[in-house]
Order: sequence, then C-alpha cells, then structure tokens
Amino acid sequence: MSTSSTGLILGIESSCDETAAAVVRRGTETLSNVVASQIATHSPYGGVVPELASREHLRNIVPVVREALREANVGFGDLDAVAVTNGPGLAGALLVGISYAKTLAYALGKPLIAVNHLEGHIHAVLLEQAQLATGSDVKPLPLPALALVVSGGHTHLYLVRRQGDTWTYRNVGHTVDDAAGEAFDKVAKLLGLGYPGGPWIDALAPHGDPYAVPFSFSQVKTKAHLKTHGGPANSVATFFSFSGIKTAALRYTQVHEMASGIERRRAGLAEEPSVIKALMLCDHQTLDLIASFQRAVVDDLRRKTFRAAAALGAASLLISGGVAANRELRVRFTAEAENHGVPIAFPKAALSTDNAAMIAAAAWPKFLACDLASPSLSAEPSLSLGRGSGQATNPL
Ligand code: KG4
Ligand code: ZN
Repeated sequence: MSTSSTGLILGIESSCDETAAAVVRRGTETLSNVVASQIATHSPYGGVVPELASREHLRNIVPVVREALREANVGFGDLDAVAVTNGPGLAGALLVGISYAKTLAYALGKPLIAVNHLEGHIHAVLLEQAQLATGSDVKPLPLPALALVVSGGHTHLYLVRRQGDTWTYRNVGHTVDDAAGEAFDKVAKLLGLGYPGGPWIDALAPHGDPYAVPFSFSQVKTKAHLKTHGGPANSVATFFSFSGIKTAALRYTQVHEMASGIERRRAGLAEEPSVIKALMLCDHQTLDLIASFQRAVVDDLRRKTFRAAAALGAASLLISGGVAANRELRVRFTAEAENHGVPIAFPKAALSTDNAAMIAAAAWPKFLACDLASPSLSAEPSLSLGRGSGQATNPL
C-alpha cells in the first residue's frame, strides 16, 4: 500500500458480547485496546442473549471507538485503514461493527479490511510475540505453527504458514459438538456459578481434587465423522467433543443430590458475585467436581493438540481464545511443550479473550497485500477459516 503510510489501523470487533476498538501500528505495536464488556447485561440469563448483544453494541460502539483513538492519541485522519470482524459470530452483533466500520471508512475515504474473528485470535499471539521481540532477543516463532483456537464458540486447530506477507491457515481439527468454552460456561451454570463460567471454574478448581471424579472422553469415530462431513478418509484430522462431559457433570450432580446446594449457591452469588463467596458456598464434593472437570478438559485439549502437532510436523504452538486464559491449561501446555522441546506462545489474558487489537493486527498483512473489503461487505455468521478438514463454526 502507500509508502507514506503511518501504519495505523483502527480495529473494530463486535462478533459476540464485547464491543471493542483498538489502534495498532504496523500489526505489531498496540497503541490502544478498549473493550466494553456486556457481562453484566447477559449475566442474569446465564448466557449471551443475541438481541441484547446487538443493542449493547449499538450503545457502545461510538464511545469505544472514541476512547480507542483518545488513548492512542491519534485522530481519524491519522488512520491508514479501518478493519472489522465480518464473522463468524452473531449476525446482529457483527452487523453493528460492520455498518459502523463501513460508514467510517467511506466518510474518511480510507480502505476497509474484513478480518475473520478466528484469524484475529491467531494474530493475538503473533502480536504479543512481535511486541516481546521488539528490543529483545526473543526470536519469532518457527513456522509452520499449530494454532489451537479455544473459545466460547470454537475449539479448532489450524496449521499456520507464512509466505511473505500472506498468512495461510489449514483447518486440521475442530469440535463436533460443544466448544470447550461452552462446556466451561454450561458446567458453571449448572453448578450455580456466574457467567461466563470459565473464569469461575479457573478460580475454584485449585481448591478441589482434580482426580476425584473420573471423567473420560469417548473417542470420536474419526472415519465415520469424516464420512459424514465429507473429508478425505486419510487426512490427519483431530476431533474434539465436549457435550459428553457436560452431561456427565449434570448426572453427577443428580446422582449425588446436589440440587439444594446449587440453588443456595446461585442465590448467594446473585447477591454477592465473588470468588470468596463462591468458596464459602461450595462443599468439597462440588470443588472436586470442578477441579476434575477442568483437569479432564485441559488434558483432552493438551493430548490431542500435541498429538496433532507431532503428526503434522508443527515447529511451534500458538494457543489463543478465551479458554487460553485458563491457568491450568497454560501450566500443563507449557510443561508438555518443554518436554517436547517445542516453542509455545499464549497471548496475555487481555488478548486471549475477544478484543480488537487482534483484528487490527490481523488486518496489517491484508493492508500490505491490498486485500480490501468490498463496499457490499456483510456479516457472515458461519464464516470459516482456511481450507481443511471440517466446518469452522460450532453447529450448536
Ligand atoms: O474468545 P472469547 O472471549 O469469545 C469467543 O470468541 O467465544 O472466549 C470466551 C470463552 C467463554 O466460554 C469463557 O468462559 C472462556 O472463554 N474463558 C475461560 C477463561 N476465561 C474465559 N475458560 C476457562 N478459563 C478461563 N480463565
Ligand atoms: Zn473469540
């Protein structure tokens, strides 16, 4: 693109329940990263309510973009481009960000860049690595990298390569039912904990025995699944499945008659949503269940990810998405990576969950390649990333 550019991209993200805007220079330097969370709005419902999400995005988009520019100390005229998430996500939520970004780009006469949310999560790690590398001897991650994107909507594996400024992604694994983050959210909800469930389970799990409840993962029949989904029978594909463990946790609470404790906890946390209060309201059986659930999910993710990395000859691992903020996951993945001598990288917590810095960072190579969005850009709720073995979005 223009050689006189300042490299400033405004990123906008509104695919689910965070309204976010960020200014990133040349895909590597975050000048601002503003996120307006809708947790308080959706909390009483125990999950994201799409209509409320769209309404909140409408309310927040203008102040969030203004704040991102203010923090970055730049004006609209300084921007080189506007980048926006065009999918996957909630249709109404995506449309708010897209309509705003299109209008802004048109009014400013600047290019508009469409970014896949999943590509954004992968670039959150690359952005963090680039920032660490600046002025230090931290080396860029060797490629190809295997990226695990593990969030509320996705549990996907991609083989990531780079040719010049172009990044390519091959989908080499996905969940066949619930995403890992969805399982965290559903199990937390059924135990009377707050929303979103991941951070609650993360905080409570160290207080229980991770081996008390013997959860097991049934093996997904790879060939049968490939047939159903039309993939080549000899491809190296990884399948995750998290709906079974959610049902097993529910049955455990039924068999052990935990309903009254759950209701007490739900009511207590509605009044005072704190981890200390939750600990007071959890008996050892509940804490054991939480710890065992988290261990089982993390173990499954770890085992399958490292197996896929070895099979595909990945030179490094990138772990991103909201569940990548999980402390046990980070500890276990890091230990295993050290055992295998494979470099591994996670974004810091603020870049793990949804944000717009990752969108602006992912847009930079597209800007350089003049890969611009058309004026007819619209929301693609089921947008997939890369070619490969399966659909990229959770069918549920
Ligand atoms: O990436 P994200 O912010 O949004 C989606 O694209 O889905 O991920 C949100 C998901 C939720 O399911 C949330 O419970 C989970 O990430 N999450 C966590 C943690 N923090 C967020 N799961 C486990 N441990 C955490 N610390
Ligand atoms: Zn996300």
